[in-house]
Amino acid sequence: MAGLVPARVRTHTAIMLTTAKVVLVLTALLVPVAEFLGVMDPGDEPQYTSDGQMKFPEHYREWVYLTSGFDMSYSEEAAPDHHMFDNVFVNPDSYKVFVATGHWPDKTIMVLEARGARGRASINQRGNFQGDIMGVSVHVRDDARFPGKWAFFSFDGGKTGKMFPTTASCYSCHQEHGAVDTTFVQFYPTLLPIARIKNTLTEKYLKEIAMPEAKQPL
Ligand code: HEC
Repeated sequence: MAGLVPARVRTHTAIMLTTAKVVLVLTALLVPVAEFLGVMDPGDEPQYTSDGQMKFPEHYREWVYLTSGFDMSYSEEAAPDHHMFDNVFVNPDSYKVFVATGHWPDKTIMVLEARGARGRASINQRGNFQGDIMGVSVHVRDDARFPGKWAFFSFDGGKTGKMFPTTASCYSCHQEHGAVDTTFVQFYPTLLPIARIKNTLTEKYLKEIAMPEAKQPL
């Protein structure tokens, strides 16, 4: 059938294809340069100082928002006399992988930001809104760096944060109770249905919610 297409059109198509290839090659060459110059975000990968601290992921407030917990507590003891919110964010590239697979990829960074709750102020008479930051911690996956793949860091307003030793309770609680890959996906309402569909919830979590004493299966 090629004979039906005028030669002029065929030449034109060939030129367009060549142009497309040139554009592709140029993009492949220019993206790393743009990243190097800081024009683009270098994928928000975790970065560390030479003494093993993690650099603060400064743009986390532009990342994907997962949840806000209010006065969440692991113990049944009386609540403290002040209310707290926590907000969880994840870097966009890892979020996209989670949506596609139900698992977190290498270089995932999750940020937990704690904020004090405020009550009556301005026109607000009832209920609570979020006040100042009380602390920021990070849960990061970096396979080449951490033997257990994941690590926890805390930031007290500084540009770098210290790693929690692997003996800290962060690791055991997240390992025991986190519904996917040691993270608390059971509390992230847009991610839980994805983990269900992709079948990536841990056996342990599925057993936990199947038990009659489970207070409120999610
Ligand atoms: C007894 C259980 C428990 C312990 C101990 C614990 N966490 Fe968590 N963590 C949670 C729960 C529950 C959430 C979900 C919070 C929400 O839904 O807002 C969470 C969420 C997080 C997140 C958000 C990302 C994720 O993994 O889901 C970070 C970051 C985090 N915790 C850091 C820490 C650090 C740092 C420590 C240790 C100092 C710690 N946690 C100790 C239960 C725990």
